Amino acid sequence: MFDLQGKRVVITGAAGGLGRAFAHGFSDAGASVLAADLDLAGAKETMTNRPGGAIALDVRDMESCTRCIAAAIDTLGGVDVLVNNAAIYAGLTRAPFDEITSDMWDQVQAVNVKGTWQMCKAATPALRAAGGGAIIQIGSATVSSGSPNWMHYVASKGAIHAMTRVMARELGADAIRVNTLAPGVTMTEASLDHFDNARSYGAANAALRRNADPQDIIGAGLFLASAAAAFVTGQTLTVDGGKVFS
Ligand SMILES: NC(=O)c1ccc[n+]([C@@H]2O[C@H](COP(=O)([O-])OP(=O)(O)OC[C@H]3O[C@@H](n4cnc5c(N)ncnc54)[C@H](O)[C@@H]3O)[C@@H](O)[C@H]2O)c1
Repeated sequence: MFDLQGKRVVITGAAGGLGRAFAHGFSDAGASVLAADLDLAGAKETMTNRPGGAIALDVRDMESCTRCIAAAIDTLGGVDVLVNNAAIYAGLTRAPFDEITSDMWDQVQAVNVKGTWQMCKAATPALRAAGGGAIIQIGSATVSSGSPNWMHYVASKGAIHAMTRVMARELGADAIRVNTLAPGVTMTEASLDHFDNARSYGAANAALRRNADPQDIIGAGLFLASAAAAFVTGQTLTVDGGKVFS
C-alpha cells in the first residue's frame, strides 16, 4: 500500500534542505525522481547515484515549468507525483507587516504562490495522461500559528493551503489528489541560518517538545503520494510535533 516502486516524481526546490530529503526519501522508496531547482549543481548533487535526473528550474517562468515537465516525460517516462517544495524561505527578511516592502512582498508571492500555481498548471496534462496521480504542496504550520514578522511568507503559504482545496475539487474527477503537507520548524540549513536558536525556537510549545529534523517530515510526503492515501484529497497534513492542531 505504501509502495512507491515505479512512481515518477518531480520535486521542485530539490537542491538541498527538505527538497533533497524528499528526493532521497522517494528514491529510497523505489520511485524515480527529477530534482528541479534554480540551483542546478545542487539538484545534480541530490541525484548522485540515484535513478532519475536533475534540471534547472525557475518556477517564476511558465516556460521553465513546461520544460521541466517535458524533461520528466523524457527522463522518467511520465509524471505520477509533483512535490511543490520550491519557495523563498532561506534568506527571507523578517519584518513587522507594516514594514514589509512591496518588493519583498512581490518576490515571495512570485515564487511561492505563482510558481506553485504554474508548476501545477504545467504538470496537470502529464498527471492526466498517467491516469491520475498526486500533487503535494509544501505549505507551513505558520499558517495556523500566525507567526509574527513574516506576513509575506505566511500569506504565501496560506494561499497554497487554499489553492490545494480548489485543485482537489477541480482535479478529483481525473483521479488527481491534491494535498498540503505543512511542516513546522525543521532543521534544514535554511532554518539554521534563519533563526538564532532554530533547534529550540518554539519547541517548548510542541507536544513532542522538539522541532523537526527533515527525516521527521518525509514519511508524511511518502504517505500522501502512496496508495495508502488513495481517498485523501484537499487536506492539510501538519507535521510539527503537535504545536498547532489544524
Ligand atoms: N525548514 C522549515 O522549517 C520549513 C517549515 C515549514 C515549511 N517549509 C517549507 O519547506 C520547503 C523547503 O524548505 P527548506 O528549509 O528546505 O528551504 P530552502 O530555502 O533550503 O529550500 C528552498 C529551495 O527552493 C529553491 N528555489 C527558490 N526559488 C526558486 C525558484 N524561483 N525556482 C525554483 N527553485 C527555487 C531554492 O534554491 C532552494 O533549493 C519550502 O517550501 C519552505 O517554505 C520549511
